[in-house]
Amino acid sequence: MSLPAALPVLQPASPLAAPISTATSITLGLGLAVFLLVTGLTLYFAWRFKHRGAGGEPPQIFGNARDEIIWMVTALAILIFLFGLAWATINKIDPEAGQGATPDLIVTGRQWFWQAQYPRASNPAGLGVVRAANEIHIPTNRKLLLELDSGDVIHDFWAPQLGRKMDAVPGQNNRMWIQADTPGSYLGACAEFCGAQHAWMRFTVVAQSPTDFQAWLSQQSRQASPSLSGTAAQGAELFAYQGCGECHAVRGLGARGNVGPDLTHFASRSRMAGNVLSTRPGDVVRWLRDPDAVKPGTRMPNFHLNDAQLEQLTAFLETLK
Ligand code: CUA
Repeated sequence: MSLPAALPVLQPASPLAAPISTATSITLGLGLAVFLLVTGLTLYFAWRFKHRGAGGEPPQIFGNARDEIIWMVTALAILIFLFGLAWATINKIDPEAGQGATPDLIVTGRQWFWQAQYPRASNPAGLGVVRAANEIHIPTNRKLLLELDSGDVIHDFWAPQLGRKMDAVPGQNNRMWIQADTPGSYLGACAEFCGAQHAWMRFTVVAQSPTDFQAWLSQQSRQASPSLSGTAAQGAELFAYQGCGECHAVRGLGARGNVGPDLTHFASRSRMAGNVLSTRPGDVVRWLRDPDAVKPGTRMPNFHLNDAQLEQLTAFLETLK
């Protein structure tokens, strides 16, 4: 299990994330300046006016109208400036409400993975329903309207390089915008405590050129083609026999579950289970042998499969490109 690097929170790659970094830096800088000024003056005065053994009590001073006005007005000015900064930032990162429009993506948080659907792209060109998990593909250089949903508890979608963060609340479709300037992989995480595996509710946003994205989309819209033989064919039978389709969808094979990730193109992804594992055979076997050992509290049951069955099921899953 390789640990991905920490989230790059102050390295924006989007016009919707850059204002957040700027506002954060200015706020921290201002706070640091005030801290240094107050601490510096306190230390200086403590040293400058310390008792040096001279006799008598020093003059007692009670209030100074001019000084008091200066520090109240200064503090007020700083607060008004920060308010204006926050206001301007919010307007830049939330350009329009986007209510009423069809979202480009519907992202659903579940314990513990993220699912992405593409409603706008799915219908017109006769494309099937595209439902990705853990890896969310987007086209570059376009502002995308994202609708957030939850299948269970409150999660929080956060891809810090591409936009703001936003709660995914059951039954309340929150909306936000994301955008990526350049193709690449951008790490994201759940930012609201949602249970034992909250820390392993990671995801990757894969930004692609519009052409590459369209190619990915039409590939993902295809059904699984079950021209299977050998262990993979045995794996497909085992998949049906164990009732995996109650929770997972594999379009083209009659599996229509919608609790766990859609597996129609499982092997086209590089990571699984909230990014805690890769989709390589070794990791898939490890997952199927005892899901709870990898991800304590997961809803995926342990089917107590033997080594031969693990091999068959893994071989089948690896054909789902
Ligand atoms: Cu989902 Cu924290």
